[in-house]
Amino acid sequence: MLPADRPRGPIAPPPASTAPGQGHLPVLLAEVLAALDPAQAKGAILDGTLGDGGYTRAILDAGAPRVVAVDRDPSALLRARAWAGAYGDRLALVEGRFGDLDALAEQAGAAPLAGVVLDIGVSSMQLDEPGRGFSFLRDGPLDMRMEGAEADGPSAADLVNTLPEAALADILFQYGEERASRRIAKAIAAAREAGPIRTTLALAEIISACLPRAKPGQPHPATRSFQALRIAVNDELGELARALAAAERALAPGGVLAVVTFHSLEDRVVKRWFAARSGGAGGGGSRHAPVEETAAPRFDLLSRRPVEAGEAELARNPRARSARLRAGRRTDAPAAPMDPHGLGLPGLTVATLKEVGR
Ligand SMILES: C[S@@+](CC[C@H](N)C(=O)[O-])C[C@H]1O[C@@H](n2cnc3c(N)ncnc32)[C@H](O)[C@@H]1O
Repeated sequence: MLPADRPRGPIAPPPASTAPGQGHLPVLLAEVLAALDPAQAKGAILDGTLGDGGYTRAILDAGAPRVVAVDRDPSALLRARAWAGAYGDRLALVEGRFGDLDALAEQAGAAPLAGVVLDIGVSSMQLDEPGRGFSFLRDGPLDMRMEGAEADGPSAADLVNTLPEAALADILFQYGEERASRRIAKAIAAAREAGPIRTTLALAEIISACLPRAKPGQPHPATRSFQALRIAVNDELGELARALAAAERALAPGGVLAVVTFHSLEDRVVKRWFAARSGGAGGGGSRHAPVEETAAPRFDLLSRRPVEAGEAELARNPRARSARLRAGRRTDAPAAPMDPHGLGLPGLTVATLKEVGR
């Protein structure tokens, strides 16, 4: 855990709704603030995805008494230390994973929480830094670990160069919804015979050669495969499922959980979670994780439909096009386990799961 730096001088935080320098432009910020209502918060709000601090600063500027800002990427915390001091004790910077957010809130002395916000995915800084290996547009080592190259666990290059072809195809299909998954996995397996695939552009070229050339306005052919590998490397959907359950445990009655997602796999998990926990299908547990017979709702939905970006935000930030916000208010019903199988997580085969160590 990193305490917020003491101010070395008057550090004026940049306006929260604009990206400082080359930073990350926060998405659906006004809508997230409306859901969390920081000025009325009776306790701390946990931002599970600090990134460039767009949400964290806006929540603090809107009057939240305290924010616990979490990121698994040490470089996000380092960057935040440049401005965190301006908020003094109101801000705690915490290195960790949002799947553990209840334990992290407890350690920060912030439980129970008045709000939790998650802005799922990678930041612009992670995408733009070639050395992180997230982008098929910039050449760099094929890494993709959000914790950085020093992290434990396999990098994207490890998966690409060592997984059996069938496991690779499974990941590309399930996590990338890539219809040409088998063709691409075959091409990767053939290419690595000549030597390991080490860089983003080397992989992007192998993938591109398997698919029709993208027409203007269409996504790059490697988009789906890179998404799939990133999800696998970082266990992103497992983290999301764990975070939703942890938020249920950590939120005080009346506290708000707000989640912004960027693709259908993530949104499906969040949608099903809220449906089940607000009294819809799947809220009653299962033989794996039984809960009481008549499960009371754990959340009241703030809106039935997801909130999407309006025209003005889309004009400013095209990345907001696929963003969806879902939010719910915690009831006073006790937290209870829920079978993650009900969340629509993509079904990797047991053999693939074993190969990636899950
Ligand atoms: C889309 S960015 C967040 C941007 C932020 N809302 C802002 O306004 O600047 C997502 C951030 O979440 C972090 N992240 C992704 N998965 C995480 C996890 N499981 N635990 C903690 N941080 C995570 C990434 O490292 C990245 O910095």
